[in-house]
Amino acid sequence: MSTNPNDWWREAVVYQVYPRSYADSNGDGVGDLPGITSRVPYLRRLGVDAVWLSPFYPSALADGGYDVDDHRDVDPRIGTLEQFDELVAALHGAGIKLVVDIVPNHSSDRHAWFREALAAGPGSPERERYVFRRGGGADGELPPSDWTAAFGGPAWEPVGDGDWYLHLFAPEQPDWNWAHPDVRADHLRTLRFWADRGVDGFRIDVAHALTKDLTEPLPSKAELAGLLDGSHPLFDRDEVHEVYAQWRELFDRYDPPRTAVAEAWVPAHRRARYASPEGLGQAFNFDLLKADFDAAAFREVVTDNLRFAEEAGSSSTWVLSNHDVVRHASRYALPPGTDENAWLLSEGKDPVPDADGGLRRARAATAFILALPGSTYLYQGEELGLAEVADLSPAALQDPTWRRSGGEQKGRDGCRVPIPWTAAGPSHGFGSGGAHLPQPSWFADVAVDRQDGVEGSTLEFYRQALAARRRLRTGDDLTWLPSPEGVVTFTRPGGWTVLTNFSHPGVELPAGRVVLCSGPLRGNLVPQDTTVWLEDEPA
Ligand code: NOJ
Repeated sequence: MSTNPNDWWREAVVYQVYPRSYADSNGDGVGDLPGITSRVPYLRRLGVDAVWLSPFYPSALADGGYDVDDHRDVDPRIGTLEQFDELVAALHGAGIKLVVDIVPNHSSDRHAWFREALAAGPGSPERERYVFRRGGGADGELPPSDWTAAFGGPAWEPVGDGDWYLHLFAPEQPDWNWAHPDVRADHLRTLRFWADRGVDGFRIDVAHALTKDLTEPLPSKAELAGLLDGSHPLFDRDEVHEVYAQWRELFDRYDPPRTAVAEAWVPAHRRARYASPEGLGQAFNFDLLKADFDAAAFREVVTDNLRFAEEAGSSSTWVLSNHDVVRHASRYALPPGTDENAWLLSEGKDPVPDADGGLRRARAATAFILALPGSTYLYQGEELGLAEVADLSPAALQDPTWRRSGGEQKGRDGCRVPIPWTAAGPSHGFGSGGAHLPQPSWFADVAVDRQDGVEGSTLEFYRQALAARRRLRTGDDLTWLPSPEGVVTFTRPGGWTVLTNFSHPGVELPAGRVVLCSGPLRGNLVPQDTTVWLEDEPA
């Protein structure tokens, strides 16, 4: 185990705050920085090591803030730079680090450089900072290729003068041209700007997409399929690591060095370069988002990822929920293999979720990942056992996915509803002016004030787990123990044993003193859907 304080990130519990949906201090329906600052005592009590703030930059919210107008400012609805400094001071005063989101693949279409590019016209140097191409056909009326965007629809948008620009996400998110020196220099300036303000680390959005090979003729969408390992023109190109090597130099000029974690949707064996000490240092592993609640599946993900992290010279990351996926209490409430989007779209929610079972499994899975070597990323509200708000009406939806897919994809709003702090009162304590996404009435039952101090509540379970982990965490080693089918057992150095019963009717409690249970034990048996942590009894 590293005793170097600069290695804090290796085993950190990082809590993701989606700023617009956390706490609204001024009653305008949108969460803000003073709101987050007011919750620092709550975060301290929860026991997290760091907070990751999703984008809080000026934005038209075409993609929940991932469409950034100005990467070196705060959206006026969310606060001011002074309030940002106050948040940093409050977090640091509570011993909590701060990680901010950097969105380097695209800006918003309101960014000053994009407006200049539009005004300057075809062939201008201003357009070279983005990815403009002439359209096909007699008057440029056809897109340069048939590529599609992540949220649906074409990946090219015409600007009316025969040029089209590339956007891998929404049309309001034009992709930067990373071959341009201005783009590189400007991002270094952004990183310095926040690092100088005391930010401890960065979460890098779509880290695998920055550098592109747009040599003509552009391949068709069909030709892109199956291009992997550096050969795809848009994703995971080897040149992207030159960018991160430069960023690493910048991070290492700070004391303590700034950290970074890559959001890189690449095959597991390609993650190492993003996570290497010469690169960003750590990369998200999203494998558990796709795994069923199943002993063999979980064990395989852990074995593979511990190996990948070691090969990269990094530590692994564990994620069960974030702002892009159905909350894990709901995922585990559905039969394995359920098409989550079809479920979200279905009238009356078919299949009917097993809410109690989902929560039981969510708590067991959380206790499982919190006992692993590496860092754990938690998403706001999961400490309350929040389920997905699955029945938002189409009129309420904000995620561009819904509109861009022509209503075929419901999108991600169901995990972004402002979280409930109080059972009673306007918007369940989120703020006095209502919530920007409607909260369901069942939020009252799971509000913070309903769980605070209540033995067995999910909130108290998270607090207990984080406190025990802080005491027990012991570096990179893990040893698997033989277990019956449907059960996974491992030990960590220092006499820490962890058992998760995924599907066994009831397995005998291992020896030791129980320090954490994700649910009630049945005498000496650990029931299905339960994780237990034990510590060796003193000799
Ligand atoms: C990944 C972010 O997590 C997601 O919310 C966003 O829509 C895309 N990147 C585009 O920035």
